[in-house]
Amino acid sequence: MPARIKPPPSNPFRFGRIVSGDAFTDREADLLVLERELRGGQNILIEAPRRFGKTSLILEVKRRLQAAGIPVAYLDCMLVPSRARLADRLASAYLDAFRSPAQRAEDWVVQHLKTFRVRPTLTIDDHGHAQLSFEAGSAGTPNLDALLEQLFEEPEAIARTSKRKRVVVILDEFQDLMELGATLLRQLRAVIQHQQHVSYALLGSRQALLRKAVHERSAPLLKMARPYPLGPLPREDFAAFLMARFRTSGRPVPKEVVYGLIDFTGAHPNDTQEAAHFLWEVALLPLTVPELVATAVDRVLDAEAAQMTVLWHDSAPAQRNLLVALVEWGGRNIYSEDYRRRANLGAATTVQRAVRTLVERELVDLEPSGAYIIKERFFEEWIRRRVVRGEL
Ligand SMILES: Nc1ncnc2c1ncn2[C@@H]1O[C@H](COP(=O)(O)OP(=O)(O)OP(=O)(O)O)[C@@H](O)[C@H]1O
Ligand SMILES: [Mg+2]
Repeated sequence: MPARIKPPPSNPFRFGRIVSGDAFTDREADLLVLERELRGGQNILIEAPRRFGKTSLILEVKRRLQAAGIPVAYLDCMLVPSRARLADRLASAYLDAFRSPAQRAEDWVVQHLKTFRVRPTLTIDDHGHAQLSFEAGSAGTPNLDALLEQLFEEPEAIARTSKRKRVVVILDEFQDLMELGATLLRQLRAVIQHQQHVSYALLGSRQALLRKAVHERSAPLLKMARPYPLGPLPREDFAAFLMARFRTSGRPVPKEVVYGLIDFTGAHPNDTQEAAHFLWEVALLPLTVPELVATAVDRVLDAEAAQMTVLWHDSAPAQRNLLVALVEWGGRNIYSEDYRRRANLGAATTVQRAVRTLVERELVDLEPSGAYIIKERFFEEWIRRRVVRGEL
């Protein structure tokens, strides 16, 4: 009889997309607060840098709320290119979330959307997934405005008739709605500020737009939600999670290597998992602790080379000079004559312009300490290794 061949272990580290189940770790304290607040009717604003785990976290909250009998609608606003499409997507998200399992999609539409000026078309794809569309684009602007308003009002009507008198609406990357016209979020505010039975979870990461959407004095959603900043994962817990996954997949590594990675990434969830993913590939090689860390990071830089090169290409010469200066000389006092001379940056106005553009492009940030930093740890390292040191 042929010997049973064990399948090779697969890489247990996931990055770049939503994680759930045993690939999702910790955040228990966040989950408790968010679930409690949304159940209690409090709107929440979750703000965090890109790839910090916002979506994974809120989808876990969604599962818990649903398990407690509260309907939850989820919409990723990043994928909504126009207001007409927003109407379709919102209606489809409501249909998904607010229809009872026993109810037919047709019945739900008739029950809830029959008073709408523009009637939706219902399509059901091969997987049984129902979608609505309004052809609202062709109906013209006044109609589209009215339609969106009706849609914004709909969750309250649904909540009033629901068993728990509560529904939750999640708008992921909601700041992107700012790009669909100046009035859209004002319209949303006008409606949701009167709603008693709907809790909104707003998730965002693009700071320039978030400022305009929620923080500035004239922002449409100013003070509409409890700010809930999301931090990196706790160092110890994250390390234990990673080590366990190396061990159970048959490639244990010394804990110093895992801490080395976490220190490198600052416990950024996605960056750390990505580095761990590449560390796993080399974990069986006879390398020292620092070599393992450096090799894993190098593999990430190779894998991300195309993206890094685009970021670099899209930077004008003054921006490139400044990026290199931040790597070589740090981000303090960058306008001082001494700094500019040392880093060969030219006039202070040139530096100011470069900083402004890099901040707008979300590549550079001003820390509360007053220092400028490159936001993406791997981009910073790519500049250090490939540009400053000229390593290939
Ligand atoms: N709680 C967690 N446990 C383990 N890994 C996590 C956790 N949260 C996030 N990650 C890591 O971060 C990655 C990105 O997660 P997610 O897509 O949820 O973040 P996001 O903030 O919504 O990102 P984006 O800015 O792209 O929308 C995941 O693929 C995973 O590697
Ligand atoms: Mg996300």
